[in-house]
Amino acid sequence: MTKAYIIYWSGTGNTEKMANIIADGVKLAGGEPEVLDVSTVKPELLDGVKAYALGCPSMGAEQLEESSMEPFVVDLLPHVSGKQIALFGSYGWGDCEWMRDWEKRLQDAGATILGTEGVTVLGEPDSETEEKLIEIGKLIASNLD
Ligand SMILES: Cc1cc2nc3c(=O)[nH]c(=O)nc-3n(C[C@H](O)[C@H](O)[C@H](O)COP(=O)(O)O)c2cc1C
Repeated sequence: MTKAYIIYWSGTGNTEKMANIIADGVKLAGGEPEVLDVSTVKPELLDGVKAYALGCPSMGAEQLEESSMEPFVVDLLPHVSGKQIALFGSYGWGDCEWMRDWEKRLQDAGATILGTEGVTVLGEPDSETEEKLIEIGKLIASNLD
C-alpha cells in the first residue's frame, strides 16, 4: 500500500498536532499514514507519490520556517507538477499570507491543492479545524492510487 506521507515542521507543537489529526483521517479511510519531521526527509521520498500533506506554521514575517521547510520546498518545487498536495499550519497573529503564498508557489509549479486551500488555525487546532483535518486525511488516502 502506498503510504500517506504527512511532512511537517513545528516549533511548539501546534502544527505537529495538526499532522497527527490528518493521520487519523488517513487511518479512518483505511490508509497507512507516515508522519515525518521535515528535517528527516529528502524530497526524493515523494517522487512516486501522487498525494501528500505538508505542514508548517507562519514563521519569520509570514514565511515558511527557514532552516528546514523553506529549503525542502525549494528542492521539491520542480517535482510537484501533477501532484495533489494538502497544506496545513498554525499561525499567531497574521492574516495567513504565508499560506496563500505557499499555495500559490505550489500551484504555479503545477500542483493541485487538496481540499482547495490550506488548513490554517490560530494556535492549537480546535474542533472545527480537527474536522477539516480529518477530511484532508481521507482525501489524501483516496487520491494515493
Ligand atoms: C519566530 C516566529 C515568527 C512568527 N511569525 C509569525 C507571523 O509572521 N505571522 C503569524 O501569524 N504568526 C507568526 N508566528 C506565530 C506562530 O505561527 C504560532 O505561534 C504557531 O502556533 C506556531 O506553530 P507551531 O506550534 O507548530 O510551531 C511566529 C512565531 C515565531 C516563534
